Amino acid sequence: MSSDLWFLVKGVCVLSKKRILIMASGRGSNMEAILDAVQAGRINGEVVGVISSNPRAQALEKCRKRGIRSVVVDRKSFSTKSTWEEELLAVCSSFEPDLICLAGFMHILSSSFVNRFRGRIMNIHPSLLPSFPGLAAQRQAVEYGVKVSGCTVHFVDEGMDTGPIILQAAVPVKDGDDADTLAARILKEEHKLYPEAVRLFCEDRLRLEGRKVFKL
Ligand code: GRF
Repeated sequence: MSSDLWFLVKGVCVLSKKRILIMASGRGSNMEAILDAVQAGRINGEVVGVISSNPRAQALEKCRKRGIRSVVVDRKSFSTKSTWEEELLAVCSSFEPDLICLAGFMHILSSSFVNRFRGRIMNIHPSLLPSFPGLAAQRQAVEYGVKVSGCTVHFVDEGMDTGPIILQAAVPVKDGDDADTLAARILKEEHKLYPEAVRLFCEDRLRLEGRKVFKL
């Protein structure tokens, strides 16, 4: 059933719930923030499953505890990236997601994957993009000496952290910060920002025009 359907229930328009799929390779704290917001009724959606590229991801244990369906598509079990991605695409599609949330998913997706779900894949990155894309963004920020950093939720394109920006939140970088203290400050904001972006998407309140995302 299309997720974009509005139903008329007793004369009131109701937007059908979006099917959210989360992809996580590690700790899974952003995954949990989204799950918490869904469970609290703040998001008009349901998390239909979690896919991990790493069989040892803490995110998987968190899913087990919460009764969330999870599937491992282990990158290490595939000799090439393209065969792994083919399987990833097949598993993703089987969930029929309206929205895919990358939450600490440590892989760049190829254009065939991105094209299949363009405008429906989000990622969170722990810097104010376009500054400090890629790995160890918090360390990059501390070493560069910036006074403000933060986090960014963006739609995913083929590049590394280059897709259209949905929301950003800033935090101060304090004298004496190291990568860990800054990461902890940013992570608190991530856990608010990501569910907010998912909430807006699930209410059809994000419009993507070229590189720009407008909040309706
Ligand atoms: C977060 O800092 C996120 O911004 C980055 O990877 C980290 C994932 O953390 N993309 P978690 O697995 O959500 O706890």
